[in-house]
Amino acid sequence: MTCLRKGEFLMTAADMTPYGKEAAQVADRVAARYAEVAPAHQDSQIAVIERLLKRLPRGARVLDAGCGTGRPTCAQLCAGGGLDVTGIDVSEAMLAAARANVPEARFLLVDLLGEQATGLGTFDAVVSFFCLMNLPEPVFVSALARFASLARPDGAVIVGVPERPGETPVEGLYGTYHPPRCTRQDLRRRAGLAGLTVEEIEVRPGTGIMGAEEDHLFLHARPASSPDRSG
Ligand SMILES: C[S@@+](CC[C@H](N)C(=O)[O-])C[C@H]1O[C@@H](n2cnc3c(N)ncnc32)[C@H](O)[C@@H]1O
Repeated sequence: MTCLRKGEFLMTAADMTPYGKEAAQVADRVAARYAEVAPAHQDSQIAVIERLLKRLPRGARVLDAGCGTGRPTCAQLCAGGGLDVTGIDVSEAMLAAARANVPEARFLLVDLLGEQATGLGTFDAVVSFFCLMNLPEPVFVSALARFASLARPDGAVIVGVPERPGETPVEGLYGTYHPPRCTRQDLRRRAGLAGLTVEEIEVRPGTGIMGAEEDHLFLHARPASSPDRSG
């Protein structure tokens, strides 16, 4: 087995799913430019984390899946102190930036879709922003099911993706591409299939990586077996 990284977790080639490998190749290539172009694109998630911070008790464990450079999410989670923050990613280049940007958090080379992620323990909140949007529906559902299993019974799962009506090409950092469809109805249905109870699908006006206007969807959910917090 090829050892890709040493640390608390030993990531081996066997632990990386085909989707994780492909994502790592793309992210390793864009990591340097990402920090420069992403801030406008990431604006929408800041308010979502502000909202989460209000409900997390001191000492809460938070997982950021597909943490990228650690900014803004892990940095924002660590800013007030008192939270135990772990970021996972498949890209060594993104993780190197994250470790430099947010030394207070723990960053691990882990594929969220792989078996290794099951050893991370459980979390009061699992968040994932702009990480799942290129996955075909069954794999997207598997990723949400993984988040459901990593969240404590009364924990929160928050997932952000751009809304994709389908058919429309999207301008990325290295040319246009055709991402899979993901509407707000798709996100709600996929969450149900993954064993999550949807509290809300929040829609925020956002900006694409190359500056185009787009809607950003934020799923707020909890594991289906958890206590009802609505009332
Ligand atoms: C577009 S970036 C977003 C980064 C960050 N969440 C943000 O909001 O800026 C997507 C990140 O997800 C990571 N990623 C994609 N698939 C992954 C997987 N299966 N497991 C862990 N990380 C993954 C990529 O390596 C990349 O760093």
